[in-house]
Amino acid sequence: MQPFAIAPSILSADFARLGEEVDNVLAAGADIVHFDVMDNHYVPNLTIGPMVCAALRKYGITAPIDAHLMVKPVDRIIGDFIEAGATYITFHPEASEHIDRSLQLIRDGGAKAGLVFNPATPLDVLKYVMDKVDMILLMSVNPGFGGQKFIPATLDKLREARALIEASGREIRLEIDGGVNVHNIREIAAAGADTFVAGSAIFNAPHYVEVIAAMRAELAK
Ligand code: DX5
Ligand code: ZN
Repeated sequence: MQPFAIAPSILSADFARLGEEVDNVLAAGADIVHFDVMDNHYVPNLTIGPMVCAALRKYGITAPIDAHLMVKPVDRIIGDFIEAGATYITFHPEASEHIDRSLQLIRDGGAKAGLVFNPATPLDVLKYVMDKVDMILLMSVNPGFGGQKFIPATLDKLREARALIEASGREIRLEIDGGVNVHNIREIAAAGADTFVAGSAIFNAPHYVEVIAAMRAELAK
């Protein structure tokens, strides 16, 4: 598994030029496309769905797409994201009546499965499904909007999640989402994250190459 991955959140991209924006961040060195799906029910915002994911594939994006589903109920949209070409599909345990079943639906469809934990949601449910997750995503802001401030308590939670991954002996990505920037990425990596979502820090920067290079330089320190 690649040690560190940078995953720009397209929530902060220019949606009118989405294909081009995704091309540009990938050309600038990003590894994974983070695709935020909000339903104005589970979270107070409304974004994009499987049609847009399929459109990015049709446009020619071959990089991994990490579909972060902030949607309740989640099960009936999982199949659509598999068909749309999502690589990872993650959902919040609060948004599923049957967490094990939702994870299994994702895996049966051939995608990689993950669980997302809000800042105040404990990691307890992982205990019985560790063998079914390929990614653990810790929210370091309350979900719904880009551009919020990183919640520092997430650092301890990252250490907790990293210990669970080590104990499992499995290859599981530990992703962090919310308020990640050039200034805090090193501390976040030291706490155990290996996959870094960044929306506003990347898309609001004047030069994608420079900001991604600066993040990698911090990670290499
Ligand atoms: C928030 C989303 C994030 C968000 C991150 O609900 O899941 O992916 O876009 O944006 P920044 O990096 O600006 O905090
Ligand atoms: Zn996200």
